[in-house]
Amino acid sequence: MLTAVLGFFPAAADTETTVIVRADRPGPVIDKDVYAQFSEHLGSGIYGGVFVGEDSPIPNTRGLRDDVIAALRELRVPMVRWPGGCFADEYHWRDGIGPRERRPVRVNTNWGGVPEDNAFGTHEFFDFVELIGADAYVNANVGTGTPREAAEWLEYMTGDQDTTLARERRANGREQPWKVSIYALGNETWGCGGNMRPEYYADLYNQYATFMKTRPGAMPELLASGDHDGQTVFTETLMKNVRGRMDAISLHYYTILGPRWEDKDTATGFDEEGWIRTLANTLRIDGFIARQDALMSELEKARPGGRPRAKTGLYVDEWGTWYRPEPGSNPGFLVQQNTLRDALVAAANFNIFHKYADRVRMTAIAQTVNVLQAMILTDGPAMVLTPTYHAFHMYRPFQDAVSLPVEVETGTYSHDRWSVPRITASAARAKDGSLVIGLVNLDPRAGAAVSVGIEGARVSAVTGEVLTAAAMDAHNTFENPEMLHPVPFTEAALEGGRLDVRLPAKSVVVLKLR
Ligand code: AHR
Repeated sequence: MLTAVLGFFPAAADTETTVIVRADRPGPVIDKDVYAQFSEHLGSGIYGGVFVGEDSPIPNTRGLRDDVIAALRELRVPMVRWPGGCFADEYHWRDGIGPRERRPVRVNTNWGGVPEDNAFGTHEFFDFVELIGADAYVNANVGTGTPREAAEWLEYMTGDQDTTLARERRANGREQPWKVSIYALGNETWGCGGNMRPEYYADLYNQYATFMKTRPGAMPELLASGDHDGQTVFTETLMKNVRGRMDAISLHYYTILGPRWEDKDTATGFDEEGWIRTLANTLRIDGFIARQDALMSELEKARPGGRPRAKTGLYVDEWGTWYRPEPGSNPGFLVQQNTLRDALVAAANFNIFHKYADRVRMTAIAQTVNVLQAMILTDGPAMVLTPTYHAFHMYRPFQDAVSLPVEVETGTYSHDRWSVPRITASAARAKDGSLVIGLVNLDPRAGAAVSVGIEGARVSAVTGEVLTAAAMDAHNTFENPEMLHPVPFTEAALEGGRLDVRLPAKSVVVLKLR
């Protein structure tokens, strides 16, 4: 009884699964930006977690934590979204430039009502992304801003002529313009971004988008704020009414146990129901994306403006688990532990995103450090890498790889009234020519014998990594930061072009075949 409560189960017999990888039917490239991150001014997501100031005893480069920078470089984070989130629609970029001692102090009304001293602003953000080797996704303020404010921020960041705004940037220490890859016009406009009707936002989007201009070659992708969960009304209204540039529409989906907001699960100490419900909830995103994709394909044929265009992107720029805050933490700071369950959530989402590679060309997990499903937790000078960090690390070969369709025949793992497929999988041809396969065993009790057939490619060698643990809520702590990390995987054997894999219960495995 006690063992079940703690998430340890007696060994069950292996289940059987068949996976066929169609290397003979290569699909679209999985954009590296599918592995992007979201960093908001929220709790210690920026202050303390990323930025500690030059005078901090914590080793730093121009105020940015060296340990966090090194960990994120190692993760090959392709892009960071900033400054929010809800925060973005109350953020005025001029508050965050110029000498720090002269920057105004505001109240972060969304997150804990704490003072925001604007020590981390535009220059610090670009310093951060340059240090970790990532591209920049900047979210403009539509809720309390103006088209002029958003247009001037774009010129400040990207202008290279002898203009007042470019001169101001130079005077503040940055000679060359920065590259903004994505410029989002608003966030969650159905909620914290202004509680707008979709029709009203579509008009506002048109107004803003008309005035976003920069020099040739420097124009970022313009991203409209879209739906959440299974809703499609924003996508539909935007696709029907936006006349100008709209490269993508966002979708937000958090894995939250309901039905009420207060019913959220705890991040640790959960039972098997918490395990399966979380995984079943996270898999719902597959259907949400499929609906959006079908709708967008249909409406693309009839977009106003007429000319043929590239597929409008569906950017899932907020996703991940949202649990009850850690006891003793400020509830407005959204601090939560991160366990093996979160690693499986991340990997199962990757396997879904890969299926929609031509539509879902960017996603951002919420959030990078200390907030929600974080990669990294910090406590003063201490830093710990979470199981989610390790899942992202294991899946690095999928960045910019060519997706390969997979056909999976697997049974269901059930508990109480919940059921999920036992195994989820995806495959790709990596940039180095190897074939990569990601496998997730959602069953916390039974291992799985997976027979993998590869159509259209010859392979002769296999290596891999596995992330698993005895307990469902295994996690790393500041006292024991290495409790959970990937180890070499030895339970894969190749024979006559067929691959036999023995997946442990509750595990993530990434295989590389040559
Ligand atoms: O990630 C936390 C918050 O969740 C974001 O600020 C907001 O966009 C969403 O509701």
